Amino acid sequence: MKVLVSDPLSEEGTSRLEEHFTVDISTGLSEDELIEKIKDVDALVIRSGTQVTKAVIDAAEKLKIIGRAGVGVDNIDIDAATQKGIIVVNAPEGNMLSAAEHTIAMMMSLTRNIPQANASLKSRKWERKLFMGTEVNGKILGVVGLGRIGTEVAKRAQGLEMTILAYDPFISEERAQELGVELATVNEIAERADFITVHTPLIKETRNIIDAEQFAVMKDGVRIINCARGGIINEEALADAVKSGKVAGAALDVFVNEPPFDSPLMDLDNVIMTPHLGASTEEAQINVAVSVADEVISVLNGGSAKNAINIPSVKPEVMAVLAPYIKLAETMGSVAGQLMGGNCEKAEIGYYGEISEKDTRVVTVAALKGLLETALGSGVNYVNAPALAKSRKIEVIESKSETSEEHVSTIQIKLTKRAETKLVAGAVVGNEPKIIQIDNYRVDIVPSGFMIVSNHVNRPNVIGPCCILLGENNINISGMQVGRVEIGGTTIMALNVDSEVPDDILDQMRDIEGILDAKLVTL
Ligand code: NAD
Ligand code: MLT
Repeated sequence: MKVLVSDPLSEEGTSRLEEHFTVDISTGLSEDELIEKIKDVDALVIRSGTQVTKAVIDAAEKLKIIGRAGVGVDNIDIDAATQKGIIVVNAPEGNMLSAAEHTIAMMMSLTRNIPQANASLKSRKWERKLFMGTEVNGKILGVVGLGRIGTEVAKRAQGLEMTILAYDPFISEERAQELGVELATVNEIAERADFITVHTPLIKETRNIIDAEQFAVMKDGVRIINCARGGIINEEALADAVKSGKVAGAALDVFVNEPPFDSPLMDLDNVIMTPHLGASTEEAQINVAVSVADEVISVLNGGSAKNAINIPSVKPEVMAVLAPYIKLAETMGSVAGQLMGGNCEKAEIGYYGEISEKDTRVVTVAALKGLLETALGSGVNYVNAPALAKSRKIEVIESKSETSEEHVSTIQIKLTKRAETKLVAGAVVGNEPKIIQIDNYRVDIVPSGFMIVSNHVNRPNVIGPCCILLGENNINISGMQVGRVEIGGTTIMALNVDSEVPDDILDQMRDIEGILDAKLVTL
């Protein structure tokens, strides 16, 4: 079998592969060259340089696995790979310590002006007064995103005797206490922190999470660090805040466009930059290369993958029966998670009817994957979803009953956060997933694309104004479901819409008299 390695990979990884397969190491390929080469390879191993587009995947005739030696999979068209049954794996832990250490190095460089002082001295100047710094000891570090890297950064900063304020909607109070950090909102962090560092994935919810609004309320002289992904902090707003003196300095390893040669940040003396070096250590590169090589060897030899992003490790014959339920549970987990918004303490997954007789563990994993992905993005897979739920102190309870009222099999997901609950039930109808219940309301929804789910008072002149509002804003309604419990009581409405609904339109919908709540669910 043949493996193509199309980005520089540590020798420890390539030599492992060479023990089993013919390995073609060809880096710096154009898309056309990659399309030509991909035709007869069984595995592709990449880092962040290779763009694995749909055209590349379409051209692959034998490809079984794409291995990403690193965390971010934003350079791979996962949907196209999944459609074609190609497993995508990454190496989520191999570079986390290096990225955390780089963050600390950037914070220390920033606070003591080390890059600027070095450049000044090397230009034969002795400018001791110019480079006055501040101590980090006793200062507040705001950490946005307390996952693998954020946690390691927090631990190291605690060693420097900093106080940690953290924002992460998927971290429970209990977990925060265990780590010795105080949970806060993004705005509280903006108001109180002396240093702010971001460690989230780049997803819709985190794009520009630090923007002009947050800079406006920050302490004068705050320092900002981004070693996660460009775009989590708005670069224009950051440049303005540095120019105005509100922000004393920023340290950036990642950028919206890499290389960031046209960025407004390039010419600011108080902004220090590194060319995406977070994972550039000998250790991290060996870790990720070995991890991905082992995954490729296992999968090409008929085994399973530990860090599959897109495909569960289930035998083909079991998969054939469970596949529609896996899709249903993943969708329901996502819907329930988005309707609940943020963290939950308990996830109860119930199986009713024929499905209760099957081994449903993988279906439960799919439900957790859908649920956690709403906060963690592509970092969640079928293998790590249970462990991530456990580390976030989400109690997962599976229950089964042979009785299912209307359908051969139904699945129910109930999320609990303190006194709040969210219940979603679904069934497979004609091989397609359907949502049949939300909370106490019976519905019949085909979950896809964008859906607005709202609660309103069950009386005339509530639904009409919602439809007019969407129509006036050119948002086409392709499906509508209304479910009610009692006349005059409250009702749920689910609108399938053809395009994303901007936040301000949703706010206007919430302001319509009789509307109690409206949320956008994106699938
Ligand atoms: P992770 O999945 O372990 O952690 C991400 C955390 O973000 C999770 O705890 C999640 O709950 C949280 N989160 C999700 N949505 C959020 C929101 N709206 N607000 C606040 N928090 C939210 O990921 P990780 O491995 O720690 O990686 C973090 C980031 O670092 C990723 O963007 C990754 O691509 C990047 N990274 C960069 C380098 C580099 O070379 N600079 C190296 C490795 C990773
Ligand atoms: C990652 O996502 O792993 C990092 O950004 C480092 C890399 O791209 O290699």
